Amino acid sequence: MADSVSASQVLDALRPIIDPDFQKSIVDLGFVKDLKIDGTGVAFSIELTTPACPVKAEFERAATERVQALDGVDDVAVTMTANTRQASRTGGGEGQQTVDLPGVKNIIAVASGKGGVGKSTTAINLAITLRDEGAQVGILDADVYGPSLSLLAGVHGRPDTTPDRKIMPIVGQGMKLMSMAFFMTDDSPVIWRGPMVHGLVKQFLTDVRWGELDYLIVDMPPGTGDAALTLTQMAPLSGAVIVTTANNLSLIDARKGLQMFEKVGVPILGIVENMSFFTPPDAPDKQYYIFGQGGGERVAKELGVDFLGEVPIDPRIAEDGDAGRPIVVSQPDSPSSQAFRRITGKVVRKVAMLAVNSPPVADANITWVNS
Ligand SMILES: Nc1ncnc2c1ncn2[C@@H]1O[C@H](COP(=O)(O)OP(=O)(O)OP(=O)(O)O)[C@@H](O)[C@H]1O
Ligand SMILES: [Mg+2]
Repeated sequence: MADSVSASQVLDALRPIIDPDFQKSIVDLGFVKDLKIDGTGVAFSIELTTPACPVKAEFERAATERVQALDGVDDVAVTMTANTRQASRTGGGEGQQTVDLPGVKNIIAVASGKGGVGKSTTAINLAITLRDEGAQVGILDADVYGPSLSLLAGVHGRPDTTPDRKIMPIVGQGMKLMSMAFFMTDDSPVIWRGPMVHGLVKQFLTDVRWGELDYLIVDMPPGTGDAALTLTQMAPLSGAVIVTTANNLSLIDARKGLQMFEKVGVPILGIVENMSFFTPPDAPDKQYYIFGQGGGERVAKELGVDFLGEVPIDPRIAEDGDAGRPIVVSQPDSPSSQAFRRITGKVVRKVAMLAVNSPPVADANITWVNS
């Protein structure tokens, strides 16, 4: 009988697989774990930095093929896992106190300079995409004036409080949700005075039992008012996604949104251009850039940040969204859903890149069976 393949042969076969973000071998990054060699069977797992890794399938295929091609190997079992890295926590700025959310690995703000550009829509579709990839996700609707999460997620209810006066998030759609809407009795707009807003937003961060989360997505209130400022100053944000629309594209607005974060040292993950173009249902190959093409990308370039992608205009986003069915759920194959998934992939990869430490080098947990 031929000798079993050795662990180093397996690792050598996997070494040419390069993580496109870290520009390093998945072996050297320590992604290869739990290597087991049992006669002609080889099993190992590849641990990614985020469950929403866009190259997951590609890694799995390449790893299987490469190990399969080794002499003495008949069976290859690859398990894809994820250990979401925790990005460094920023926010606060000089003299500001950020709150501590120990179980929450990454907090991502979705913001804009202007209202009505699709922040909430982007936030919920991002959150659901991450949930679908297997991440533990929470979503905080920080718009205390016009909360929309309850409507967009189709989730209602009143949060429970614990004996020590903490608030339990509502669990719905497989995520943990918190919104001012859960405390309101009707849809009338709420008028808060500045100090109250500050207190409310602070409570959402400190008094809500978020528990363990890979990602907490914060749907920011529009603009740079009290609530937005409190959040950027108090929340330990990993980064911010800025949403803009092609028709509202103004450098000034985008810059305003950006500066609020930059002032407190929160990295800008990139710009999303929403409602970029329209594809008529009877002409699926056409893309009409009603408000001009390439504006978002240009603005991103001028501001020195990444462009994350275009989301097309799709009436179903509004119709299904208002019925509590985000487009990635109601029309998962639609171009806008695909755009949201691509954008999510880019966002979490950037967040993973910002994570404090590169993972340790492998080899520590290799086990041999029957060798
Ligand atoms: N790509 C799109 N195509 C069609 N409709 C969209 C698209 N994106 C968002 N909408 C719709 O536009 C409206 C505004 O979107 P949304 O509520 O997400 O914006 P917002 O930035 O959160 O607004 P606000 O500043 O009021 O919080 C909603 O009715 C939403 O369904
Ligand atoms: Mg909103």
